[in-house]
Amino acid sequence: MTQDEMKKAAGWAALQYVEEGSIVGVGTGSTVNHFIDALGTMKDKIKGAVSSSVASTQRLEELEIKVYECNDVAKLDIYVDGADEINPTRDMIKGGGAALTREKIVAAISEKFVCIVDGTKAVDVLGKFPLPVEVIPMARSYVARELVKLGGDPVYREGCITDNGNVILDVHGMAIENPKQMEDIINGIAGVVTVGLFAHRGADVVITGTPEGAKIEE
Ligand code: 5RP
Repeated sequence: MTQDEMKKAAGWAALQYVEEGSIVGVGTGSTVNHFIDALGTMKDKIKGAVSSSVASTQRLEELEIKVYECNDVAKLDIYVDGADEINPTRDMIKGGGAALTREKIVAAISEKFVCIVDGTKAVDVLGKFPLPVEVIPMARSYVARELVKLGGDPVYREGCITDNGNVILDVHGMAIENPKQMEDIINGIAGVVTVGLFAHRGADVVITGTPEGAKIEE
């Protein structure tokens, strides 16, 4: 089974968490794209979606799924999204697709975070995947210097402007033993919009695509 087939198994398995008549929180990325395809098969049974990126909005609309503004929805039952890394306590690194800030917002209004991954995303300690940090452009150098003080090696993601008009620093070389603390520290640096650590709001359900099919942990 290829990695994409495992992503597909996870994405389609998440459909069982979608309630008829609901509005669904939708993340971003190649695993989520499979979930969106699955969601298309029940588009007439749901009200619609709140999307975490321009890319996901476009894919949802191509399938004629109504996309609601986040500001018009007080609460969502579920948010379905992928991750770049996930540890045994279900803290995650996200933002490989540069959608981390909107992902964190949609996750924040959702009751349940359903994380869909392939088996390569599971780690004991977060940080092998470079940690994305969305930064206001004028603060890029200052934030980079602060991240070096924290022991990281920040690399400017060339050519990447987020949906919010900001830039991304990918922080290499950090073994993140205390994700909640690190989330707070990095979010506290002036000029940081969001760090791609999802520890305060981790996953509630993890669906892992494996060669044997989707494994669900609640
Ligand atoms: C986008 C994300 C994605 O969830 C993460 O990058 C995983 O992507 P993929 O499903 O393509 O492996 O956080 O900002």
